[in-house]
Amino acid sequence: MSTVQICEVGPRDGLQNAKHLMPTAAKKAWVRALADAGLREIEVGSFVPPKLIPAMADTAEIVAFARTIPGLKVVALAPNLKGFQRALEAGAHKVTFPVSASRQHSESNVRMTPEQMVEEVRKCAQYPHPGVEIEGAVSTAFGCTLQGAVPEDDVVRIGSALAEFCDAVALADTVGYANPAQVRRIFSKVRNAIGAKLEGAHFHNTRGLGLANALAAYEEGVRAFDSSLGGLGGCPFAPGASGNVITEDLVFMFESMGIATGIDLEKLMLARQLMVEVLPQEQVYGHFALAGVPKGFRAAA
Ligand code: COA
Ligand code: ZN
Repeated sequence: MSTVQICEVGPRDGLQNAKHLMPTAAKKAWVRALADAGLREIEVGSFVPPKLIPAMADTAEIVAFARTIPGLKVVALAPNLKGFQRALEAGAHKVTFPVSASRQHSESNVRMTPEQMVEEVRKCAQYPHPGVEIEGAVSTAFGCTLQGAVPEDDVVRIGSALAEFCDAVALADTVGYANPAQVRRIFSKVRNAIGAKLEGAHFHNTRGLGLANALAAYEEGVRAFDSSLGGLGGCPFAPGASGNVITEDLVFMFESMGIATGIDLEKLMLARQLMVEVLPQEQVYGHFALAGVPKGFRAAA
């Protein structure tokens, strides 16, 4: 049977953009509920200066907690060597680095050019990190609200540079500009350049094409997807960026197609309820949450 791996990024991509802080104890309960629903990979936070994103100040504590959940791969984002060292100290299993293909977004997000950021990730890869996976995520790979169009050759070049020293490379539609034809074309180009190192797809649903893009990536051979419960998310340094592809809807799409996610939709709704109770002011999305399980629905497993 076909399977896909879904990484829940709500605790990082979602909370970095939320209007209110989620208390540490509630974050832990949320991560636990997500794991209980069957998520085997959760991006629990980022190691960025707490002054810059106060919602991420407790990431080390969340990583340490998440590590106690058996079978869970604990992922964290880092923007530089200092963040990587903090991630290693906290015990993250996998660290993701955002490397924008757009120069303007790169400078806004990490205060480095794309080339400088590639060198920063190289430095991290050369720093001892036994057993810890490194992923280079090519952000704004499908367009940028600051720069506009992002040349596909830039995406291929940065993906290829990252593939030299990262364990895996992902392509991210940071601002929700992608369409399915473009997704197929760019994933195919990057795969031709770096082969199986191209793993993940990270889509935002800003213009409603999140699921369509995920399906296009699936058809192009992608089996690892980021998504966010309730469609929370967005980059504070990319104007106009809004929520990720919605985990509940993504799970429903794959499961109803007979593609196993390992995730239990009913339990996932409990995790959603918990999140909504803690962040009642936050706008949440999702068709599955509104409409519920269709009669006769059978999960893939
Ligand atoms: N964690 C904690 N503190 C950090 C840090 C990190 N990863 N990186 C740098 N710092 C501290 C430095 O020690 C320094 O502290 P000081 O003022 O007490 O001496 C201060 O932050 C400034 O350091 P500097 O290296 O000059 O960073 P910067 O101001 O040029 O910012 C980044 C660069 C990469 C740290 C910042 O732009 C960043 O974190 N970007 C990521 C934004 C993000 O999370 N976007 C959304 C996800 S894609
Ligand atoms: Zn994102």
